[in-house]
Parts: sequence; C-alpha cells; structure tokens
Amino acid sequence: MSDTNRLLSRRNVLRATGAATVGMLAGCNGGDGDDEDELEIVHWWTAGGEQDAIEALIDGFEEEYPDVPVSNNPAPGGAGSALDTEIQSRVLNENPPSTFQIWPGKAMDTYTESDVLADIGDSVWDSEMEDAYLDGVKELAKDDDGNYVAVPLNIHRLNNLFYNVEVLESAGIDPSELSSPADLLDAMETIASDTDATPMAHQTQAPWSTIQLWENVLIGMEGVDTYLDVLDGNVSANETAVRDALQMVADYSEYFNEDAGSVAWDQANTGVIQGNAAFLHQGDWAAGQYKSAEDFEFESDWNYVPFPGTAEVYHVVTDSFVMPEPNPSPDATEQWLSYCGSVAGQEAFNPIKGSIPPRTDVPDDEFGPFLTAQREDFNNSTAQPPSIAHGTGVTPEVKSNVEGVFSTFNGDWNIGPAYNGLTDAFDV
Ligand code: GAL
Repeated sequence: MSDTNRLLSRRNVLRATGAATVGMLAGCNGGDGDDEDELEIVHWWTAGGEQDAIEALIDGFEEEYPDVPVSNNPAPGGAGSALDTEIQSRVLNENPPSTFQIWPGKAMDTYTESDVLADIGDSVWDSEMEDAYLDGVKELAKDDDGNYVAVPLNIHRLNNLFYNVEVLESAGIDPSELSSPADLLDAMETIASDTDATPMAHQTQAPWSTIQLWENVLIGMEGVDTYLDVLDGNVSANETAVRDALQMVADYSEYFNEDAGSVAWDQANTGVIQGNAAFLHQGDWAAGQYKSAEDFEFESDWNYVPFPGTAEVYHVVTDSFVMPEPNPSPDATEQWLSYCGSVAGQEAFNPIKGSIPPRTDVPDDEFGPFLTAQREDFNNSTAQPPSIAHGTGVTPEVKSNVEGVFSTFNGDWNIGPAYNGLTDAFDV
C-alpha cells in the first residue's frame, strides 16, 4: 500500500470510529496544545548556516507580529530525512503542527490526495503576492485542482560544484575548464596524486546526496531531456545513459572522504572549509554554510562552477510552508504564510540560506555576489528541471523506492543491481 493510501485509509478509520481526538492515540508526538494561538513551525533546518536562516525568518516574523507566540520545533535530518515520518504520524493523529516545511510539487501528493492541506488561495495568496511570484514556482504551490496550498519561500540550485580555491591552485586545476563529469574525475585523480586533500567531500549516511550527484552526472553526460525521460519512468529506454552515470558516480566514490558513511552533508563540507577537501557537489545551501563560517570568503577562499556539463541548467529545489488541517492556530498560520510570501520575509531568509527568492521584486542588495550570480544564471537558464532526491520530480512512492536503491549503492557501488533496482523503482 502506498504512503498516500495508508494516510487516507487511516484517516477514514479514525473518522469512522470517532477516535480522532487530539492526543488520544499512541505515537502522537505533537505540541502540548496548551496555547491555542501558538505558531508551531516544523522544518529540518538545523545544519550549517540553515539554522541562522530560519532564525532570521522567525525574527522578522516576530517583529511584524509581536503578539504571536512562536514554537520553533525542528525535525533535523538533511533533505527532510526525518521530517516526513514525524509529520505523517501527526497528520494521521489529526494533531498537525501549525505549519511544516515541504517541497512544493509532487512531494505534496500524499497530503493533497488525503485532503489535509487548507486551500489558502483567498486567505494568503492576494493579488499583490500572486503578481510578484515567478510563474513556474507559483504553479508548484497548487494542488491538482489548481488551488493554492503552499507558499514557496526560496529557490535553491542543485547543480553546483563548490571548491576550496587554495587546494585547486596547489594541484594546478582550473575548474572553469571542467566541461564534463569525466573531466571532474580526471581532476580528482590529480588532486589525489598531487595533494593531501580529499578530492570530494560527500556524505553517504543518507541516500539523498548520492541520488542528487547521480542526477547531475546524468544531466552532465546526457543532457536534460534524457534526465526528464528517466524521471518519467523510462529507465530501460535509457539503459546505457543510466548505467554510465551510475558508473561515473561509483568512480567518484573512490575519492570521497573516508568517513562519508557516518557524517551529514555539512560535516563533510567542513573539509572544504578547513582546506582538507577540494570539491563538494551540493545544493547552494552549502554557500549558506560558507557564509556562516569564520574567515572563509567567496572567491578568495571558496568558489563554484556549475556542475560540469550542466552550465545552462538550473536544477531547482524549492521549499515551502503549508497549512495542515485541522489547524491548531489558523490566524497565526495565515500570518506566517503571508510573511513567507512577502518581500521582507524572503529578503530576511534567502541571503543567509544560500537561495534566491521566488518573488521577482526582492531587491539584490542583501544577496552578495554569489547569489546575485545565481539569480542571473537562473534568469538565463535554458531548463529548470525538478529533482528526485528533493521530491519535486517524482511521487513520494518513487522517491522512496529510489532511496532504497541508493542506500545499497552507497555501500557497494555495484552497477548491475542498482540499475535493476532503478527500473523497478519507477515501475509503480
Ligand atoms: C533540501 C532543502 C534545502 C536544504 C537541503 C539540505 O531538500 O530543499 O533547503 O535544507 O535539503 O537539508
């Protein structure tokens, strides 16, 4: 049974038996519910500079709405690896928080199909906000019936290759000359032989970082159309491309930090900050971590190029907040969502988070040279594909299947079983 069906049928059972009283059921781990107006915000931003970014957003909200008590209640784990389970159990028990972080797009299917996200078209999406948003992001915020159910807060780019400037210089590598994923492999071989640094900082503790690496290698080797065809489930029609990209990732794995299996993404990235690692492939939340690091400056200490072979692509990851029902604090939640959709909210959050705003009218001033360049790249990009690892491009069921495949691949780097696993993963 899929997650969606499970959620639906459990809710129906709850309704039929009348057992849906808040807090009655085992496994309920909701807030204390003492304060009816308290705004409980659940998100996973505890890593790197991400904590600073959500705190800046909450600070800005509190300035604008000083009477609303806020409970900042994170469910830590990169790319939401822990949040979804917690939220689903609370939604099942009809004890959701006021709002929670979710990728707008297919990742919302589980909730929209169960009809547990409020339509916020009238209460939050006024015409001022609607006019200011980028069209593509605006569409992601709607359910299948075209009703607004989410407020996108940011736009991250996934296809970045960050690097420590000094390490690359000492190995004589010019990153602007890396034009394909194979060039990157050659550069890592040079770094391994000419320096003491780890060629690529990476985490394999949770599957998402290797999934996104494979996504970018696939785009870099074969182009966006092939990638999108695979997302549509046509894995065997692209067998050679899928296998070659898996092989490239397996070849890269020779150059990961030895503790990749036991660290989180921001712990791996510390190697780049300390000059112990050369490259990091990661979304631009990594730049948020560089920003919060001491004495680690853009261009002189760290820099980036688009992942080799993907220069014209902006591989998009967006985060949003939603209003689950029954909502413990409807007025405060609407105020929070309106703030997330405002110029002030997006200006407070994005420069620290390492993302660009989905509103077109947020001034550049606070964004600094790196994010201003990302904004330009976004505007000039020829494609903005969604992601598997970050839940926007495939259903929750497919995503979970792909994660299963990469959990194993992360340990054995065995192409055959991974390829077969992927053909099954999309066959739902
Ligand atoms: C992504 C999310 C980002 C960042 C990243 C690492 O899925 O969209 O905002 O948090 O995970 O956890």
